[in-house]
Amino acid sequence: MNLKDLYINFFVSKGHKQIPSAPVVPENDPSVLFNTAGMQPLIPYLMGKSHPYGTRLCDYQKCIRTNDLDVIGDTYHHTFFEMLGNWSLGDYFKKEAITWSFEFLTQVLNIPVERLAVTVFAGNNTIPKDEEAIEIWKSLGISEDRICPTTDDNFWIAGETGPCGPDTEMFYFRSNDEIPTKFDPEDERWVEIWNDVFMQYYKHEDGSVTELPKKNVDTGMGLERVVAVLEGVNDNYESSVWKDIIELIEKISNKPYEGNEKSMRIIADHIRTAVFISADPAGIKPSNTDQGYILRRLIRRAIRHAFQLEINKDSNWEEEIAIAIMDKYKKYYSEIEANREIVLEVLRNEKIKFNRTLEKGLREFEKITNNLSDNILNKDLAFKLYDTYGFPIELTEELAKERNITVDTEGFKQKFKEHQEKSRTASAGKFKGGLAGNSEIETKYHTATHLLNAALKQVVGPDVHQKGSNITSERMRFDFSCDHKLTDEEKLQTEQLVNKWISEGIDVISTEMSKEEAIKSGAECMFIEKYPDMVTVYSIGEISKELCGGPHVKNTSEIGSFKIKKEEASSAGVRRIKAVIE
Ligand code: ALA
Repeated sequence: MNLKDLYINFFVSKGHKQIPSAPVVPENDPSVLFNTAGMQPLIPYLMGKSHPYGTRLCDYQKCIRTNDLDVIGDTYHHTFFEMLGNWSLGDYFKKEAITWSFEFLTQVLNIPVERLAVTVFAGNNTIPKDEEAIEIWKSLGISEDRICPTTDDNFWIAGETGPCGPDTEMFYFRSNDEIPTKFDPEDERWVEIWNDVFMQYYKHEDGSVTELPKKNVDTGMGLERVVAVLEGVNDNYESSVWKDIIELIEKISNKPYEGNEKSMRIIADHIRTAVFISADPAGIKPSNTDQGYILRRLIRRAIRHAFQLEINKDSNWEEEIAIAIMDKYKKYYSEIEANREIVLEVLRNEKIKFNRTLEKGLREFEKITNNLSDNILNKDLAFKLYDTYGFPIELTEELAKERNITVDTEGFKQKFKEHQEKSRTASAGKFKGGLAGNSEIETKYHTATHLLNAALKQVVGPDVHQKGSNITSERMRFDFSCDHKLTDEEKLQTEQLVNKWISEGIDVISTEMSKEEAIKSGAECMFIEKYPDMVTVYSIGEISKELCGGPHVKNTSEIGSFKIKKEEASSAGVRRIKAVIE
């Protein structure tokens, strides 16, 4: 049985309910691009909201951390990883959490006690030393020499603010050397494998800490690392999580892993993460902003390393690797199977695009760097590599670093911003032109789209959010987040509600305001960053308020009769409605 199943079975046997992994793109948390820890989707519940599955939960959560892409290529960092976790929402606390962690490690995973050590919170000005945790570890048979109190590393918080608390981390001695009696967390032979956080505080923006309504437990175990530890390998890529993928890359490139580790690890890691981002219900595509930009960078960096390994650029190497990865994960994550074709298309299209410019760009890079007088690549050259050859700045930096050249990244960012502002003005102009071309019927469809969005929220639930829309003079298409196929009843009610609002003859009011004000007023929009600083908000009575470029009818009575023609899946977690106005 594999680690995920062992973990879930164990905690289910201790009264926990398994919850499904949340999507990698958070559904209701715009503060982060990706889920970075198992606890992230659970924040509202850690803060007191009652969870529909109860007070004892466990899961394996897909996590993505891309703040430090440079380190990928070593033996143990990954941009995507799975985190095993169990939670108590005001239910059990330290004694049970620590006892079960110990039981799982020693009795299920059969790790000998001599190989284990722990750190605990040493205390600070406001929170005392965690004597309770120390006593519990001792009672379980961990000797005092193997319990190390620290202050800095034993207080856990996801970012700057939010639920937090002291923690106790578990370490495994990964070496054939004799095990030292005294545990030193700085000694790299001790590898951290699990973290139990006693999450009873909330840190506010002003730095103050208050008690949460309940004492919670949040735990996190990085699957990749633990599998490597258990299998006795020092390189995660030699464990069963990766071994077959690396072997496939060896086969595709006709080169051995040894000597090519860095490129092969980057390809394996980045393609896996790209698979999970593009399979996510959020429908992310490569772009130059936010999650789309991360996706683009990951794919392009993988392509550059494939080029380095002299993999035939016109072969379907990325597809072969992605399929092998999807086959490994589809049993655990349904969106992988459901969005398989989308994933392959995303990878293929981005490869075709970048293949067109990569080689020329690399030649240009060589030319530029051979002619540098001072080992600094200036902003104009960095921008040319970006603009003409599609080199994300981070790729240019990576190439430059390999030659001990520094890039004027700050200058590049400034230039990039100026360029963006220019093109925004240009596209605003284009948009205005476009509006003039909008037919009367398309204008009606625009307003009907707002009504449909509002109606779905009332009928299906407040979690419905617009994911896309498309209007022609023949019909409208509307994509929205929703976890189920609409029932006939839901479809009928939605249609009736839209028609009711149409028959009520409600005025459609547009107001200009700053983007900030608009958000504060509760106006909805899909991609806030795509809007200029001043925006137009369209309100339809109390029914709907959205940031929008328009155009719209003046009164809902102008729309006519609204009819839903079709409701179908668009991608995992996203449904699509096609509707007409008659
Ligand atoms: N949230 C804790 C962590 O990520 C468990 O380490």
